[in-house]
Amino acid sequence: MGFLYSQLVVKPAYPTTMFSGMTVIVTGSNTGLGKEAARHFARLGASKLILAVRNIKAGEAAKKDIEATTQCPSSVIEVWSLDLSSYDSVKAFASRASSLPRIDVLCENAGIAASKFQLAEGHERTITVNVISTFLLALLLLPKLKATAKEFKTEPHLTIVSSEVHGWTKFPEWKEPNVFKALDDESKSNFEERYPTSKLLEVLVIRAIAPKLAGSGVILNYLNPGLCHSELSREAGWGLTIMKFFLARPTEVGSRTLVASASAGPESHGKYMSDAKVEDDNVSPFVKSEDGKKAADKVWSKLSEILERAQPGVTKNL
Ligand SMILES: NC(=O)c1ccc[n+]([C@@H]2O[C@H](COP(=O)([O-])OP(=O)(O)OC[C@H]3O[C@@H](n4cnc5c(N)ncnc54)[C@H](OP(=O)(O)O)[C@@H]3O)[C@@H](O)[C@H]2O)c1
Repeated sequence: MGFLYSQLVVKPAYPTTMFSGMTVIVTGSNTGLGKEAARHFARLGASKLILAVRNIKAGEAAKKDIEATTQCPSSVIEVWSLDLSSYDSVKAFASRASSLPRIDVLCENAGIAASKFQLAEGHERTITVNVISTFLLALLLLPKLKATAKEFKTEPHLTIVSSEVHGWTKFPEWKEPNVFKALDDESKSNFEERYPTSKLLEVLVIRAIAPKLAGSGVILNYLNPGLCHSELSREAGWGLTIMKFFLARPTEVGSRTLVASASAGPESHGKYMSDAKVEDDNVSPFVKSEDGKKAADKVWSKLSEILERAQPGVTKNL
């Protein structure tokens, strides 16, 4: 009922907080929610806005479109290459971004809802893109976010786009000795639940690592934009298309919660945002349960091993 009420009745507030002087990175911003969030950041005066995209041509087209609709100067938006299915690409992006004078917002929005089992970097690709590389990028850029907090006496935001569907999976894999190994086993995969499971993993990891960032000056939060029109369902069947026809929000309306999370106060640290507000009570019952806490520790422990293999020492950035 909460889902239907939110979709059909609630309209998140239109973003008005300015981002003047700030450097903002939005991943997956050539289309969908990322592009509409980027349009808001440009309209709200961001001084540097980096569209982190895997398709540079599509990124350049998005830059032109945003410039035309916001009249932001052409020096503000830059299009940088980032492919979350490749650790090398994530590392190259992070190394380039680390040389920026500051990063005020890292909005990790890019994601996929794959319909077929395929591997990327030795793991099922939904997990690689939505979870492993998302946190690899976050951890690689944490030193710059922390340095920005210190040098500019500000509160940089690490904002991760999750979803309410984190509660729409049974996630039996959490009981296996190695969650990621279980998810990589095609013969045991329930692919219907793979995308919701990837969004649940994001939630569990954030809840495990947020306390480690307390006092760092960095605000880490995560959000649910609601069911929105976008290209996310490109691999999905008719069921989702019909559901979206009746229930989905315009992409711009969904993007408002990305922007609200990127400017939310310290009370949002480690918290779930929905409809542009902190709504931590609305995380799923599993996440709030004792099993959910155990699962969060287990997932983080195995994810940190994977991240250490991808980039030795990276978990010390927390
Ligand atoms: N739409 C919804 O109803 C909804 C609801 C809840 C949460 N979300 C979340 O919102 C976020 C944005 O999704 P969306 O709905 O805007 O979908 P979208 O229109 O499909 O946009 C996804 C973006 O992610 C990029 N991306 C995909 N794989 C990538 C990779 N390997 N490396 C770098 N970028 C990659 C896409 O680039 P390409 O264009 O090159 O593929 C695109 O820019 C996702 O995290 C999604 O889980 C969406």
